[in-house]
Parts: sequence; structure tokens; C-alpha cells
Amino acid sequence: TPDFKLAPSILSADFARLGEEVDDVLAAGADIVHFDVMDNHYVPNLTIGPMVCEALRKHGVTAPIDAHLMVKPVDRLIGDFIDAGASYITFHPEASEHIDRSLQLIRDGGCKSGLVFNPATPLFFLDHVMDKVDMILLMSVNPGFGGQSFLPGTLDKLREARRRIDASGLDIRLEVDGGVKVDNILEIARAGADTFVAGSAIFKARNDTDSHRYDSVIQAF
Ligand code: DX5
Ligand code: ZN
Repeated sequence: TPDFKLAPSILSADFARLGEEVDDVLAAGADIVHFDVMDNHYVPNLTIGPMVCEALRKHGVTAPIDAHLMVKPVDRLIGDFIDAGASYITFHPEASEHIDRSLQLIRDGGCKSGLVFNPATPLFFLDHVMDKVDMILLMSVNPGFGGQSFLPGTLDKLREARRRIDASGLDIRLEVDGGVKVDNILEIARAGADTFVAGSAIFKARNDTDSHRYDSVIQAF
């Protein structure tokens, strides 16, 4: 069986108590912190940047941080996220002038690299850089907001990405982001994903009357 990982997206967390929110999902068993960076240019929303990533490290977060860059241009922020302690840095091929260079910048900085595919972005962007990616992230919603519905066409695309990874023989994680819920994660896993981002499904399930606020939802996943 694949080594499945759950990556809560802090986009849906309470930003006023971010350190505690991250501590709580990790204590409940989450594996990776998914960190959504939006620039109000490449996507129509504005979120958090490298200073907040660095603040989570200073707060004591040691789990992998998966920086999902929805910004254009992307290269300068790659350097900033390397310095801020990101573990994975992923970007959208449409947002980079030189995809190969951006991937190389990430690996040269000691981070794991990834390409992100919007619902309508074809997988052929992988053709000549498969050996330079550690993660392939398929968006199952159009990027910009949490709480949208999973686009079912993503399942066929996951199967295609899984075929490409298996044929390559390379160690590449296959991540899915958008509309992942307890009741669809099984079919998403069967389509080939091994890394699951979930924002609203986790952070909107907080039970404030319970000191183990996220244990039951993380266990349900
Ligand atoms: C959307 C972000 C996602 C978002 C997912 O652009 O990349 O990571 O937080 O949120 P849910 O899980 O609520 O669809
Ligand atoms: Zn994301």
C-alpha cells in the first residue's frame, strides 16, 4: 500500500490563532502543513507569505511545510520560501517563465520541488522535467478559494498522472487539492493519489467543546 499523507490546508484555519491550529492538526495525526500562497494577480485572492512560514518554524513546527505558490512571477518567492523553512515548494507552470529553472532553484535550495496542474492544464508540462519534480499536485478545483466542490474529471487525470509516475520509476508524490472530503477520499486514493490536501473539511470541523479538537476528523480521514 502507498504511504498516504494528509496535508491540512491552513487556508481554512483561524489565522488569528494559526500556531495553535497547526499544532492541533499535527497533534491529531496530520502529516504535512499545506500552505497556500495567493497574490491577487495569478489568483483572485490574497493570503500569506514567507514571513508567516518562518513564524510557524519559530513557533516550533517541525512537520514538512508544503508551500503551494499561486503567484506570478514565481522565482523570487521561491528563494524567500527556501529561507523561510519550506519543505516542498510547488508552483503552476503558467506562472513561471522558465519551468526548468524554477524547479532547479527549488532543489538547489535544498527543498522538494513540485508542479501544480489546474483543472484545464495538461500534464504534458511534465514531459521534459519529470526527473526534476518530487511532487505532482493536481488541482481538483480552480485555485483561489477553499470550500469549492471536487471536480470529478480530476479522477481520470489522477490515473494518467499515476501511470506517468509508475512508468518513470521515480519517487514522486501525487497530491490532490480541492474539495477533498471524508466521503470522497477513498475513490481519490483509488485513482492514484497518495497525498491529500483538505482545508475546509478539517478546519471547519473543529469542536470547540473538546480539547482534542481535530482528533475525530483527522481519524475519519
Ligand atoms: C485552493 C487551495 C486549496 C484550498 C483547499 O486554491 O489551493 O489548498 O485550501 O480547500 P478545500 O479543501 O476547502 O477545497
Ligand atoms: Zn493549495
